[in-house]
Amino acid sequence: MAFLSDTLARVKPSQTIAVTNKARELAAAGRDVIGLGAGEPDFDTPDNIKQAAKRAIDAGRTKYTAVDGIPELKRAICEKFERENGLKYTPSQVTVGTGGKQILYNALVATLNPGDEVIIPAPYWVSYPDMVLLAGGTPVSVAAGMETGFKLTPAQLEAAITPKTKWFIFNSPSNPTGAAYTRDELKALCAVLMRHPHVWIMSDDMYEHLVFDDFDFTTPAQVEPGLHDRTLTCNGVSKAYCMTGWRIGYAAGPVELIKAMGTIQSQSTSNPCSIAQYAALEALSGPQDFLATNREAFQRRRDLVVSMLNEAKGVTCPNPEGAFYVYPDISGCIGKTSAGGAKITDDEAFASALLEETGVAVVFGAAFGLSPNFRVSYATSDEVLREACARIQAFCAGLS
Ligand SMILES: Cc1ncc(COP(=O)(O)O)c(C=O)c1O
Repeated sequence: MAFLSDTLARVKPSQTIAVTNKARELAAAGRDVIGLGAGEPDFDTPDNIKQAAKRAIDAGRTKYTAVDGIPELKRAICEKFERENGLKYTPSQVTVGTGGKQILYNALVATLNPGDEVIIPAPYWVSYPDMVLLAGGTPVSVAAGMETGFKLTPAQLEAAITPKTKWFIFNSPSNPTGAAYTRDELKALCAVLMRHPHVWIMSDDMYEHLVFDDFDFTTPAQVEPGLHDRTLTCNGVSKAYCMTGWRIGYAAGPVELIKAMGTIQSQSTSNPCSIAQYAALEALSGPQDFLATNREAFQRRRDLVVSMLNEAKGVTCPNPEGAFYVYPDISGCIGKTSAGGAKITDDEAFASALLEETGVAVVFGAAFGLSPNFRVSYATSDEVLREACARIQAFCAGLS
């Protein structure tokens, strides 16, 4: 339509949201659908957090706040970074936005000029390349496949950096693979970045608390203090605190960048919801013990899903270190025909036939920039996961 902008023409709608919507539509039409597409914990927000929000309403905390966050929350974020990551920031180096998504978007819009490149390891969270495009930059995707545990190697990072590189987006544990970099793996990437002072690091630590088997989570500014002044450390309460709907994300970095991000936010959404900010304050400063309980549940589900998917014919499912996703490879299924007669030409055809014939909704790998794979979000009950994996096994067994 001539009415629509060139900016819009550069991007596509989120395919993970599209799969969730399609599964909802089928379920509304009476089909027996199991949705493994959504990227959110199935657990409810902890009660102490809800109570804090109710208190905020009753206390009349219902007005505009400072654009990039109330001072109490910024202080709690500084304490969080020091306590959990050994990172020192002052409140002026902290910004709060409407979800992690807005934080990343603000940073890209505030910094990218046409021609600026952003290195994004693939498979990637679906929104990174589109946000870079919306901000006028050029996404440079670098494939990090199953053979390296879905992790970028230092040599790959070195080779991707050009004089035009502005940002390197780092996401560990990763959406969609669940892969998390060990301290040594991260140090090796940081050593490359130390040699290229013009490259800034956007570390998306959204799944920090979802790591298994005593995995030691680390973040770039922590393992290489020499990068502190050109790193934006991004995080949020959505995944760890089961608060996806509340929409609070935050980041810490150099004051000038934080100020610039605040300017973008001041001319778009202004402050994130005042009530949700008080809820996030309680999340970060209240009891943390439920994090371990949730982590145990997710680890049990990961073990279940990995073992069941590895029994599906043609499927290889690596065992990820964190998040609540697995990203199985389906090379062994491509080129076959399903029991329902669908040609499995690629991972999109696989996901579409799987949904049509078994009612299991997963997101195909091409949406995340690495094929042939699909992403399972295992943030749902053990019984539902068992049933879904059994259906996937039956679907794969039916391929010929
Ligand atoms: C890697 C990653 N970063 C950021 C986000 C955005 O989180 P929020 O819901 O806080 O905007 C998500 C959500 O799916 C994610 O997977």
